[in-house]
Amino acid sequence: MATERTLSIIKPDAVAKNAIGDIISRFEKAGLKVVAAKMLHLSEEKAGGFYAEHKERPFFKDLVGFMTSGPVVVQVLEGEDAIAKNRELMGATNPKEAAPGTIRADFAETIDANAVHGSDSPASAEREVAYFFSADEICPR
Ligand code: PPS
Repeated sequence: MATERTLSIIKPDAVAKNAIGDIISRFEKAGLKVVAAKMLHLSEEKAGGFYAEHKERPFFKDLVGFMTSGPVVVQVLEGEDAIAKNRELMGATNPKEAAPGTIRADFAETIDANAVHGSDSPASAEREVAYFFSADEICPR
């Protein structure tokens, strides 16, 4: 297994629930290291650009509206198999289908406010990390 980096976003619903610490603690307990982090209130342009691949989907406007509704915490997680490990910790996109004990099962209620985002492939991870962080904002540990 290779050491990877992945982008994680703690979404506005989870920030509003004061769950930032609980969620980051799950990453750390699973062996993932936070090597970059910042809190941001995304503009429509920044959120729309991030989700550009979903531009034609019926939920795009709602997704951008939700992601701009309050602050988010974006982080780069580093570790063995980090992309898959993060996705496993997150659980299914729809919290109603998320396995018990996953972040979405415990902190999310609906598919449009589902607590966290995680890159789904090495190519997405590379693009998404660079979308939010410059090289000098990432601190290898
Ligand atoms: S797909 O088909 O796998 O590309 O799509 P999916 O991963 O299921 O969803 C992509 C992101 O869109 C969000 N999403 C929604 N937002 C609002 N309303 C509805 N109905 C909806 N369905 C999906 C979903 O949370 C995904 O966000 P991220 O941040 O990528 O997890």
